[in-house]
Amino acid sequence: MGLPTRIIAGLVWVFTGQGEAAEPQVPESLMRSPDSYFIHHEVWNAHWTRLIENAMDYVHLPFVHRNSFGGAIGQPAIEAGSFAEFQIVQTEHSVQVFNRFHNIESGFAFEWHQPNLVVLKFDEMGIPVRVHSFAIPIDSQRTRYLIAIQLLEPYAAEMVKDFIDPIVEDRVVIESQNGEIPATTEERNVPTDRATLLFRRWYHQTIAHPTIARQAMPIS
Ligand SMILES: [Fe+2]
Repeated sequence: MGLPTRIIAGLVWVFTGQGEAAEPQVPESLMRSPDSYFIHHEVWNAHWTRLIENAMDYVHLPFVHRNSFGGAIGQPAIEAGSFAEFQIVQTEHSVQVFNRFHNIESGFAFEWHQPNLVVLKFDEMGIPVRVHSFAIPIDSQRTRYLIAIQLLEPYAAEMVKDFIDPIVEDRVVIESQNGEIPATTEERNVPTDRATLLFRRWYHQTIAHPTIARQAMPIS
């Protein structure tokens, strides 16, 4: 039996569901020729939702990854004494986050696309890469972390290592988390957690427990 396939960004996409396959909805930034991308993948011992939550947790970048790309985000803001101002826009199939600093021309933006893609827009900060992180479930405890880095300038290929190496810094933390993301949280959340809480709510309402998820879940 054949399965419907597409080749997008040099990757083979296979529809494994039932019924008629809809065309995959992918961001415009994945529609370039295959040689526009650097592809990296590895297997993490964690539930796929943990990887998505981590990729959306942008406030850890200037701290955990301060010696690589996180420094490029945080250092100018620290020097300028900036406050972060952020805006979250929900669409039917995505959440878009815009994070700007109040007194300098810099900021950071990312998007989560249902179900398992986070796009980090470093190019909007003047760094010529756009990082697409996919969390592809293998089973309930293992996930293939696939990263497609769009190279927007010829010299961008030299920067790829700066985005791949820091992944290890997250892996040890994420692999320490048991099972899927929780439906409710006893953690203390702050306003910048709102995007990840929207992901949690979507996951539990549509994927994990669609019948019991009618109960309210705080997201602010
Ligand atoms: Fe990280």
